[in-house]
Amino acid sequence: MDDHKLVALAREELPFAYAPYSGYKVGGALLTVEGPVFRGVNVENVSYGLTICAERSALVAAVAAGYRLFSTIAIVSEDEKEPMPCGACLQVLREFGDLRIIVAGKKQEFLSFAMEKLLPHPFT
Ligand code: THU
Repeated sequence: MDDHKLVALAREELPFAYAPYSGYKVGGALLTVEGPVFRGVNVENVSYGLTICAERSALVAAVAAGYRLFSTIAIVSEDEKEPMPCGACLQVLREFGDLRIIVAGKKQEFLSFAMEKLLPHPFT
């Protein structure tokens, strides 16, 4: 699957994001090495700290379905600026190895990063 398609799948998730507190919706699409794609959204909570980011919700869906090898994750917001993943999500994704991270705001263009670039010194 090419990067444009993965970004499009992440963008399709945006209406399902549950973000009544921040108003900042995020969609994610995680491509497995085997081919299936798992999607996720941010799910906020009235106890703000319990919020789950889109990256982690896509990851747990994939792991629950039996997948553990990932090649790329696309993360999309409706904002001008691309949604860079937080440190917590990077560490959780890194648990399953290296993957490429694509981020896109409302523009068509996207940015692509190696995991190592964003989290050079993970806890292992
Ligand atoms: N959020 C994500 O889901 N992923 C990111 O990469 C950045 C932040 C969510 C968490 C919260 O629901 C909202 O965006 C604002 O921080």
